[in-house]
Amino acid sequence: MAQIDNPAGQHVNKRYSEPVLGSTDYPISSYHDLIISDIDFPENEERRRAHLALRRKREAEAHYRQVDIWYKRYFEPGTWLKRFIKLAHLKQWMERNALDVTVRPLVFEFPSLPKAFDGFRILHLTDLHIDAHPELAGRVGALLKDIHVDLCLVTGDYRFAVVGHSKRVYHYLEQVFTQINSAGGVLGILGNHDATDDVAALEDLGVRVLLNESIEVHMNHQSIWIAGVDDPYAFKCDDLPKALHPIPESAFKILMAHTPQLYSEAGDRAVDLYLCGHTHGGQVCLPGGGAVISHCNTPRRYLSGLWDYKSMTGYTCPGIGVSGAIARMNCPPEIALIELRRA
Ligand SMILES: [Fe+2]
Repeated sequence: MAQIDNPAGQHVNKRYSEPVLGSTDYPISSYHDLIISDIDFPENEERRRAHLALRRKREAEAHYRQVDIWYKRYFEPGTWLKRFIKLAHLKQWMERNALDVTVRPLVFEFPSLPKAFDGFRILHLTDLHIDAHPELAGRVGALLKDIHVDLCLVTGDYRFAVVGHSKRVYHYLEQVFTQINSAGGVLGILGNHDATDDVAALEDLGVRVLLNESIEVHMNHQSIWIAGVDDPYAFKCDDLPKALHPIPESAFKILMAHTPQLYSEAGDRAVDLYLCGHTHGGQVCLPGGGAVISHCNTPRRYLSGLWDYKSMTGYTCPGIGVSGAIARMNCPPEIALIELRRA
């Protein structure tokens, strides 16, 4: 373990380790007495229905924008990227890179972490885009089957497409979710590739989807809170104040958001750990990690890896899958295995 400096040159007081290939060397969780609070109480049902109706409306508007083929054909950055890959004969090499998923162990220390959660392990999956390649789900499932964690958090973008039905994707998602060994189960949010109808399908697969909601995780008379917001990028359905509303001010808070763009709002509201994806770490990067395309107007230091804002720690995971083109360069796909420690 070593300390690192973040790209902006500010010291990050977190321990950080090099990525390793998937390993069977993770002990089974000792947290058998975890209790996860309920979000499915009757008063919340009406609110969830209203939220899904709003999201469906935004989705229809986004669909209209997405089918503007003329724009996509000439101006979308992914189109230029695909042309470059083809011209440079890099397709096979970049496709191999895209399938070479690694497990990255990370240790984050917090003085505010309740003692009962010292050593708590979180599997962070993001941007699965699981139908991008027929081999991806099998490879990810094989890596996950020997990893035992206390909680799994998934920060959106389950499929490759941005519009249309997802039915053909669920078979691949099942290959992944059935391999997850998580004592506290799986909590998820939606990203900009996900359809409103995916909520029911994800819940059938055992994922509890947080729609601007939060839940409390209890253990040994102590607790932490997990909040999840809907996509702030394409659908703009996020509502951070609503998601954090039930959480006591002094509680330890983890926020799941699809993109890093809520960093200042979350930091100002005393979130302790911000987990997100969306940028794919750049997906195709210059040597040294500079992203060619980011699809996010957040300052560069928040686009990939570890960062901080005020007292909040953030991690923008490069994620598992790809979008636009089945290609990665200087930016390996990643499953994050996070251990929380009390400083
Ligand atoms: Fe994505």
